[in-house]
Amino acid sequence: MAVLPIRSEPDPVLRRCARPVEKITKRIVKLAHDMLETMYHAQGVGLAAPQVGVSQRLIVVDVGEGPLILVNPELVAQRGSSTDVEGCLSVPGVMGYVTRAEQVVVRGLDLKGHALEVKGSDLLARALQHELDHLDGILFVDKATGLTVERGRGQA
Ligand code: NI
Repeated sequence: MAVLPIRSEPDPVLRRCARPVEKITKRIVKLAHDMLETMYHAQGVGLAAPQVGVSQRLIVVDVGEGPLILVNPELVAQRGSSTDVEGCLSVPGVMGYVTRAEQVVVRGLDLKGHALEVKGSDLLARALQHELDHLDGILFVDKATGLTVERGRGQA
């Protein structure tokens, strides 16, 4: 595994709509593991492939409940609403309040190509929605209010 450089604003790869992973190759498996290592190294709770310069639909998340890898993730259900502070490893030093669904269901594939459904609430739901946005070229600063420049936890 390797720690990869994290792309930051205004790198155009962060603004592209990422393309689906067509086949889970060895390269994708290695990328997913490198993304996890990169996320842990940066003390983040989530990372999307465009953040390491790969415009493909792959995310990793760990909000303290163990690593989660999702290929071609899609939001299939959402409920409630919650506003909390957020940051992003690609927008270093900036925090802001973002309103998101409180609970979500996300479907995708695991690294073996098997269907995987993740139900998340609170921080997990927030991290999943934040990473899904990355795949569509959306950054949390597009949705945030009360942006402040200070380093904090919970960056994704
Ligand atoms: Ni982010």
